[in-house]
Amino acid sequence: MTGATVLIVDDEHTLARSAQAFLADHGYETEVASTGEKALELLASVQPDVVFADVRLPGMSGIDLLKRIREFDPVLPVVMVTAYGTIEGAVEAVKLGAFDYVKKPVDLEELKLLAERARADRLLKQELSYYRQRATRDVGFAGMIGASPAIRAVLERARQIAVLDETPPVLLTGETGTGKGLLAHAIHASGPRAMRPFIEVNCTALPATLMEAELFGHERGAFTDAKESKPGLVEAAEGGFLFLDEIGDVDLSVQGKLLRAIEERTVRRVGSVRERKVDLRIIAATNRDLEREVRRERFRNDLYFRLAVIVLPVPPLRERGEDVLQLAEHFLGLCNAKYGKAVREISAPARELLVAYPWPGNVRELSHVIERAVLWSRGAVLDVAHLSLTSPLGAESTDQAVPAASDGPAVEPGAAAIAPALPPQGVDLGQWERSIIERAMREAGGNQTKAAQRLGISRDTLRYRLKKFGLVG
Ligand SMILES: Nc1ncnc2c1ncn2[C@@H]1O[C@H](COP(=O)(O)OP(=O)(O)OP(=O)(O)O)[C@@H](O)[C@H]1O
Ligand SMILES: [Mg+2]
Repeated sequence: MTGATVLIVDDEHTLARSAQAFLADHGYETEVASTGEKALELLASVQPDVVFADVRLPGMSGIDLLKRIREFDPVLPVVMVTAYGTIEGAVEAVKLGAFDYVKKPVDLEELKLLAERARADRLLKQELSYYRQRATRDVGFAGMIGASPAIRAVLERARQIAVLDETPPVLLTGETGTGKGLLAHAIHASGPRAMRPFIEVNCTALPATLMEAELFGHERGAFTDAKESKPGLVEAAEGGFLFLDEIGDVDLSVQGKLLRAIEERTVRRVGSVRERKVDLRIIAATNRDLEREVRRERFRNDLYFRLAVIVLPVPPLRERGEDVLQLAEHFLGLCNAKYGKAVREISAPARELLVAYPWPGNVRELSHVIERAVLWSRGAVLDVAHLSLTSPLGAESTDQAVPAASDGPAVEPGAAAIAPALPPQGVDLGQWERSIIERAMREAGGNQTKAAQRLGISRDTLRYRLKKFGLVG
């Protein structure tokens, strides 16, 4: 087990130093404090995984030190070191929550084994508390709504990846609001590392220098504000997952270090010469076209290739057909509970509109639209008016609705009623058009002639547009 930090509290310098040297040889970081008072001062900066404390110390006793530690850290393992004649003290300490005790003269091998056991025990306790927290949240694939072939294909692959303990990094791509964050959590929550940390880093939020220190940690004095040494988020993710959200926004200077961390599985804190081994899985997400970023020399080629081994493209909501209705009902339930409302049903025209709308903000936008609608609705039925979306559809009944291209000249009678009011934030005409064409194709069972008829355009025009929107191979 490497990378653990041990704090030795003993006024007997020779013993402390030999223990320190021995543990350092076995991959431990060690700090020594000669009194209980000094140990308490060091706790915050050193953040030890294990404390060895002599029972008999000048000033504050080892037992008192244990009590003080327990006041603010209920799980930090403290091992008592006892000389001849203080064994009763050690036994008392164990009753007070010490992890164990060890007798002087200390067998260094025994010390090391105890450090390992203590650390494993702490991890277990942390996992348990994490697991309890997690159990109350809705994570895992069960929380991902959708049955369309497009989403099922992605979830299927995600499940395959999730069950493995080790995989290359996973890259989630897709437009904003498609559920990349949710999927990352699901992969973590349903795999063997579920009880290990899931550390999320928003790569957009920080400038390069801060980002580097955040990710890799720093040593005391590495820069002006670095009063204490601190492990980075990569180290914090030990054993679990590091989720790099918006990876496309990582500064070029940090990208190189990130690649190194992924390839070598080591990190070096800023201002340190020591390489620390890390064991973690990486999920990255982006709504940018990374290949294009590579061409523009804003993203490192080598990092891209490292990340692009397993890519899960999360489809936009407009390509998920009726999932939108399932999701709408899901959010309806959540909002009813949240606001104490009883909106039980979505009217047929509202459903129609939900399916036809192109959802540029994807699932997130849908959840906001439903939330607003629930807030506004008074009755049990959610209707078009509550949705405050503009309709690309005719005001006819579902099975006869005629989708009209937004710039289409040949609008059929009745469909003129669509004349959508333009919302203040504007619309994306291209996306409206695309969604209408997709819908016409779907309803025509893929028959281009029929779809063209329904859209009031020629077959050639339709084909041209299918190509333009990448809807044909
Ligand atoms: N399939 C789904 N089922 C249920 N809820 C979903 C689904 N997909 C997304 N959501 C919800 O929609 C919202 C947006 O999802 P999320 O934040 O994961 O998107 P994202 O792809 O990470 O977006 P961005 O690129 O903007 O960060 C969240 O509240 C999430 O819980
Ligand atoms: Mg996200």
